[in-house]
Amino acid sequence: MGRVHTEALRRLGNVEVIGVAGRTAEAARKFADNLGIERATGNYQDLLADADVRVVHICAPNDLHYAMANAAMQAGKHVLCEKPLASTVAEASSMVALAKQKGLANCTLYNVRAYPQVQNMRRMCEAGEFGDIYVVQGTYSQDWLLYDTDWNWRIEQGPSRTFADIGTHWCDLAEHITGQRITSVCADLHTFHKTRKKPKHSVETFAGKTLQPNEYDEVAITSEDFGAMMFAMGDNTRGSLTVSQVSGGRKNRLFIEIFGSKASAAWTGEAPDDLWIGHRNAPNEIQIKDPVLMRPEARSYTDLPGGHSEGYPDTFKQIFRRFYKRVMDAKAPVDYPTFEDGVRQMRVLDAVLESSQKKAWATVQD
Ligand SMILES: NC(=O)c1ccc[n+]([C@@H]2O[C@H](COP(=O)([O-])OP(=O)(O)OC[C@H]3O[C@@H](n4cnc5c(N)ncnc54)[C@H](O)[C@@H]3O)[C@@H](O)[C@H]2O)c1
Repeated sequence: MGRVHTEALRRLGNVEVIGVAGRTAEAARKFADNLGIERATGNYQDLLADADVRVVHICAPNDLHYAMANAAMQAGKHVLCEKPLASTVAEASSMVALAKQKGLANCTLYNVRAYPQVQNMRRMCEAGEFGDIYVVQGTYSQDWLLYDTDWNWRIEQGPSRTFADIGTHWCDLAEHITGQRITSVCADLHTFHKTRKKPKHSVETFAGKTLQPNEYDEVAITSEDFGAMMFAMGDNTRGSLTVSQVSGGRKNRLFIEIFGSKASAAWTGEAPDDLWIGHRNAPNEIQIKDPVLMRPEARSYTDLPGGHSEGYPDTFKQIFRRFYKRVMDAKAPVDYPTFEDGVRQMRVLDAVLESSQKKAWATVQD
């Protein structure tokens, strides 16, 4: 994600990426040289001590978010942190409190919100074009951890993996689009691979299949490969979601659809410029992203005319643009996902874990 953030930042034009911290000085230097960044260090504290650094982007593994964000805020830096915000609700809540106390801008990277057609869908919903929302459903499916030879740090950072990694995006999206909150959940998290082959040495992601038997350890796994969840939302909305990292052929399929009393809508990150609108008594529509055809409130999320694709990298640019406006002007609107949104999804995750453990519905604490 360091690369994605760097590239998106540079497209803003008014932000300079002046340094990068990595796990080792060598890794950081290599990354910096590849992207033409001046300063590189193997110790992120060096960047926090650097008076030229005003903003810190945390793109490290989840279990480092809390310590890094705290240290950055203590040093007076504004912080953008990748999702999930922290490892526990308590950690995430204390991050919110510290940001407030220090008066610092803060962002949790729920970037999926910033696709133009997602914003369009949200504003159509807000304007009542779908009527009362009855059903919200979808999936987030990937295949990169299908085999027991597939390995990544996420596998060992429980208690949740697939839900914490991608389910969290979907739940934030469902709440953002509908303006409603998930109130209770009935979830089932499942681990198909009870053991996995952990490489003895660090390997490139996806290189696991080429390993020989003497190059790995057999490790017991508790984090889930798959999760299913029914949920209640707002006063009278129901929904369901599946999340999976073992769905062959589905590289990164986020799909969401909503069914309302007047109309329906569906969107997938695999074809982000298209919004499907469903009708009972008229032909269905496919609306192709075109600022002129979008709800006026959503238009600022598209920089290109109709027929010109905007995708994943653009979502970061849109969020960063809004965030840095706020950094430069404390009176600018907070129209990006914040640490509070990060805490919110930690609470949903907590309810999912509780429900799956108890095999019963669980309430999302507010
Ligand atoms: N918003 C999104 O679309 C999205 C997509 C993928 C990942 N993510 C999030 O981004 C974060 C990183 O995920 P990733 O897939 O890029 O992981 P990754 O393993 O590809 O990269 C993590 C990087 O952090 C570095 N690192 C580890 N310890 C460090 C330390 N102490 N100091 C400095 N650097 C350190 C590693 O060397 C590695 O380069 C995770 O929180 C993940 O959930 C978000």
